[in-house]
Amino acid sequence: MLGLTARYPQALIMHGLSGKTALITGGSKGLGLAIAQTLASYGVNIALLVRSDRESAEQAVDLLRGQGVKAGFWLADMTVRAEVTAAIQDINQVLGGIQLLVNNAGANAHAPLLSLTDEQWQRVVNANLNGTFVVTTEVVKRMSRGGVVINIAGASAHRCYPNAGAYGPAKAAIVNLTQQMALEWAPLGIRVCGVSPGPVRPADSDWQQQEPELAAEVARLPLKRAGTPEEIAQTVCFLASSAASYITGQMLVVDGGGISSWYMTQ
Ligand SMILES: NC(=O)c1ccc[n+]([C@@H]2O[C@H](COP(=O)([O-])OP(=O)(O)OC[C@H]3O[C@@H](n4cnc5c(N)ncnc54)[C@H](OP(=O)(O)O)[C@@H]3O)[C@@H](O)[C@H]2O)c1
Repeated sequence: MLGLTARYPQALIMHGLSGKTALITGGSKGLGLAIAQTLASYGVNIALLVRSDRESAEQAVDLLRGQGVKAGFWLADMTVRAEVTAAIQDINQVLGGIQLLVNNAGANAHAPLLSLTDEQWQRVVNANLNGTFVVTTEVVKRMSRGGVVINIAGASAHRCYPNAGAYGPAKAAIVNLTQQMALEWAPLGIRVCGVSPGPVRPADSDWQQQEPELAAEVARLPLKRAGTPEEIAQTVCFLASSAASYITGQMLVVDGGGISSWYMTQ
């Protein structure tokens, strides 16, 4: 019995991802790990940039190597340029040049504007916006033969939600930053796109018991369920692949239809 890729070689050829090296921020757990594993399934070598959680990073690297690709993790706070520079220089030595960057790491504060402390505001803006700026500029300086950058924003970037006082504005800024990067770096052969997920939870978890308020909101989505990390990861792979070679400066909203109709659906 022939393997899937032997029977359908165009599946891998179309993606054009095999053998590339990707850097994923915050890629040791959650959505970032699903993105790393899905890219690895297309033959992409993976560098994870993690802040402090060495244990989950080690487990993630074991999983990725088990998929047959090269993988490693590097510790850095993505908002501190010196740490990011050192990590990227080392990744270039160990895994070769980075051709794909996924800015996945982020932070949230769950508060309305009048309750937000300055510390919360700065932490959320720092992690989402400044981190994306610092990591991307350091990676792009070293992308000698073009590449792709994918920024993870969120549905909150495109419409306002209660308690998203800092998160919404920080994610909305990523939309404009994505367009600015796309414009400035198109001559370098670099495409820059973004993915804006709606609520994402693992399909096999009982998150509805832990988060009844979110479950009630999700029930009002046109598709009436949360997205899975794998669904977001496949969208990232599409945008990173040669199937999306004429797309740059665009955000793909992956939210079960929420931003266009949330409040109209019963
Ligand atoms: N899950 C959802 O429903 C959803 C919906 C819309 C958008 N998103 C976006 O998707 C992305 C991933 O979501 P998630 O739920 O998987 O997130 P998560 O579990 O909260 O993970 C976020 C990651 O970012 C890392 N991080 C935060 N600040 C950092 C810094 N300064 N330097 C390096 N790493 C840093 C965290 O590392 P530490 O563990 O060390 O803090 C963590 O690994 C985020 O950008 C999020 O805003 C998620």
